Amino acid sequence: MSNSDYILKQCGACLGATITNINLTQELSKQVTESLVAALDTHQVIFFPEQDLTPAQQKEATKMFGPLRPSESFFDRLDDDPDIEIVINDEETPPTGTAKWHADLTWAKEPPAGTSLYSRKIPQGKGDTIWVSMIAVYDSLSERMKKYLDGLSAIHSWDMGLGGRQGILKKGVEHYMKHKNANPPIAQPLVRTHPRNGRKLIYVNPGFTSHIVNIPRKESDGILNFLYGLTPRPEFQLRHKWDIGTLAVWDNTSTQHAAVDDFFPLYRELTRVTFGGHGEPK
Ligand SMILES: [Fe+2]
Repeated sequence: MSNSDYILKQCGACLGATITNINLTQELSKQVTESLVAALDTHQVIFFPEQDLTPAQQKEATKMFGPLRPSESFFDRLDDDPDIEIVINDEETPPTGTAKWHADLTWAKEPPAGTSLYSRKIPQGKGDTIWVSMIAVYDSLSERMKKYLDGLSAIHSWDMGLGGRQGILKKGVEHYMKHKNANPPIAQPLVRTHPRNGRKLIYVNPGFTSHIVNIPRKESDGILNFLYGLTPRPEFQLRHKWDIGTLAVWDNTSTQHAAVDDFFPLYRELTRVTFGGHGEPK
């Protein structure tokens, strides 16, 4: 198999592509890595099925999409490696709110550009992940609505969401407050321009966005609920059914995701690597 002959097939209407005939443990040419990065920019989430990756190989494969960044989310690190998180759910550790629509760490000054997620153990037929293109959501709006939203900012808060904060709280109030104080609420543009492909996208999510600034709260609630009502529209989504050994890489700027909460208490294990490179939202 020559890695320059990989095959890309679009798998969703608005986002998603599956890439086969490639072995991510082998060295890839500059030309191939550049075309894979371009594929991510275009398709927003890409899948490499039938890969056999150690955590170190997952890190290596992820580096082509952007500089690795130590994760600041709530999952445990694998072997204390700051660059790799392990997501395990079983009877003892139920899923922690990842079923809610969100993009990762949008409360950060410079949120992650993307994440790779590699499936190690998957309950058959369950535990899917759904992604939605926020470019497609933006494109679906009327010119009137785009004009209204343009220039607005919304507050994103670390302590708003995802049940995973409970895990941090369990380690003690001091530990929790240290995280909370290190991540104060931040205003991000409601309409963001993707730094690589120049597309406009909606940049609010029910996981971390509390309100739009400088408009009445009821109006903010109404606008956010209207936008959140578009995210679950199936025509903007891609639902991925995991097989063991698939590496998914997603663009965390242009998409949101939600885990399908249908597998507890079955065992599910994935590893995550986060990368940067999209800068501060603009
Ligand atoms: Fe997430």
